[in-house]
Amino acid sequence: MASELILGIETSCDETSVAVVRGGREVLSNVVASQLVHSNYGGVVPELASREHLRAILPVLREAAQRAGVSYADLDAIAVTEGPGLAGALLVGITFAKAFAFGLGKPLIAVNHLEGHIHAVLMEADFSSPLLALVVSGGHTHLYLATRTAQGAGARTTWSYRNVGKTLDDAAGEAYDKVAKLLGLPYPGGPWMDALAAHGDPKAVPFRSAQIKSKATGNRASKLSREAAGWQDAVRFDLSFSGIKTAVRRHVELNAMQPEITARAAALRAAGLATARPSDEAALAATLDHFDRHTLDLIAGFQASVAGYLTRTVFAAAEHFGARAVLVSGGVAANRELRRRITAEAALRGLPVAFPSIALSTDNAAMIAAAAWLKFLARDFAPDTLEPTPQLRLG
Ligand code: KG4
Ligand code: ZN
Repeated sequence: MASELILGIETSCDETSVAVVRGGREVLSNVVASQLVHSNYGGVVPELASREHLRAILPVLREAAQRAGVSYADLDAIAVTEGPGLAGALLVGITFAKAFAFGLGKPLIAVNHLEGHIHAVLMEADFSSPLLALVVSGGHTHLYLATRTAQGAGARTTWSYRNVGKTLDDAAGEAYDKVAKLLGLPYPGGPWMDALAAHGDPKAVPFRSAQIKSKATGNRASKLSREAAGWQDAVRFDLSFSGIKTAVRRHVELNAMQPEITARAAALRAAGLATARPSDEAALAATLDHFDRHTLDLIAGFQASVAGYLTRTVFAAAEHFGARAVLVSGGVAANRELRRRITAEAALRGLPVAFPSIALSTDNAAMIAAAAWLKFLARDFAPDTLEPTPQLRLG
């Protein structure tokens, strides 16, 4: 088994993470410092994110090395997220990684964050190719057809990616966070919505599918790209989440829910729950006390439509492209309803399906170190001039 050690650094959004991964697969440490500073703002404040990364990066690095039981001299390469992400946040990680690699005299490897999310799954299991990958997070909702190829004399594996669908407006996680904010929940609201949805009836407040996919069918961009590339080849599976967000907002207005929402947000803050996480059972129970049945049903209805919509789109794309496996990654891959539905549909179709372990679903540096592994083997190192690419694309 390969024993080279890659240290990964991830600072593209609001998690400062450093990990040590051996041989592209074995996670020796994966330290993630989540920034709590954004919880009262309803979203990530870029300037604050950069400052928090600057503050956290050294302690997180020290802890990652210590937990892995390695010294810096043992490392074989330093991998860092190049993009996509927030420019200032990426800049902290890249500047740090460059200086660290330079000081140690080790090579630097630039990693696409989206490829990192896919490798969060590939590092844990082997798959048939081609596979359909859904990367679904707070910043992204992309569908990729990923194909494995063997290259070179030693038949070294590489993966190539083709983007076959993306959101035309909000990312799915962003829709979760915006709806959560609309209902008075702290940021990031996705995990809260997931936890609270389990206490509501998803059928009590149904959302029609027309409310969630109006923009995704027959959109102009898709038509143009289809015409440019020929119809057969360029069928796309784009998505849209602004419709469901608006439907929830309309529901809140029509049912005059605003006063109770404002009161709830204030009560959660006063009870010190604004920076809590739903994985804390006591915090979840205390938060639940502030919710009435109707709001819980609304949350469950929202979650059912988003998970159902994503599931239908994933399998329509998988079928169209003849994918031999389905892989789901990114923060929203932690969503229990999405996991349940995709797992059930894959079983019906006899397709293998995989999600990352929960720790590897949200942003982390282990996935960056894992994605860097094939580049390390190919000696595909980053130049000294490496800069952040906030809009970096994959495929
Ligand atoms: O991958 P990630 O950590 O960061 C980005 O690259 O965006 O994803 C974070 C996103 C947030 O929008 C968060 O609300 C959402 O993933 N999220 C969830 C769940 N856990 C995290 N959304 C729904 N259900 C969850 N369990
Ligand atoms: Zn991410």
